[in-house]
Amino acid sequence: MLNLLVFLGSARDSAPPRPVRLGLRVARQFELQLIDKGHSVELIDPLSIDLPASFKPHFAYAKGAAPAALGLLAEKIEAADGYVMVSPEYNHSMSPALAHLLNHFGSSLFSYKPSAIVTYSAGQWGGARAAIGMRTFLSELGCLPVSAMIHIPKAQEVLAESGDFGADTDAQSWQAYFGRAIAQLEWWAAAARAQREDVGLPAAAQAFRRDPSQRNAP
Ligand SMILES: Cc1cc2nc3c(=O)[nH]c(=O)nc-3n(C[C@H](O)[C@H](O)[C@H](O)COP(=O)(O)O)c2cc1C
Repeated sequence: MLNLLVFLGSARDSAPPRPVRLGLRVARQFELQLIDKGHSVELIDPLSIDLPASFKPHFAYAKGAAPAALGLLAEKIEAADGYVMVSPEYNHSMSPALAHLLNHFGSSLFSYKPSAIVTYSAGQWGGARAAIGMRTFLSELGCLPVSAMIHIPKAQEVLAESGDFGADTDAQSWQAYFGRAIAQLEWWAAAARAQREDVGLPAAAQAFRRDPSQRNAP
């Protein structure tokens, strides 16, 4: 059993465009799939996290002084074996809500674990252009994205609000499509956990103490 977090990348409260927060059903679908496979799963919804109005990353607070919501999420991120990152495409880019939420946490919490990229849209492209930038973003965070990516065009037709497949959806084909990325995530998450437990993290992976220039080339 793996400990997995499904991050939902929409905090949108606007109509049009409808449907609002299409991403909720996408995140629920992956939550359901992973629970079904026996994993411990939590859906992280940016609307349920009370972020301060001004931006101050979790790692910038003195130990134990971060707002409770940030401290709690930091613990969950650190304890997780892997992540599913669900994002809409806004202006051909990843969700600003997801980027903002993730920017609150340093790579030391995510590193040496895998992630799976899941994008969606109400139109025909399924967020494929947002996904390209997500690879760079997630790689920098240290939770390396698995090679298979999932893109869901017209997600409102594929999934019902509950997260289950829509009545007219070819659920078997979609499940097979989702399954490739999920299998990769499970394999890497289990392998990375075993390696973390066996040999720990390399000394070179220690968090920098002063500022990022400590990682510059000489
Ligand atoms: C600000 C904004 C920008 C958007 N940009 C794109 C885009 O670049 N490509 C696309 O396919 N859909 C785009 N859309 C449409 C979204 O795919 C659609 O609104 C979807 O429901 C957004 O996900 P959400 O409802 O979970 O927030 C955009 C929507 C908004 C609100």
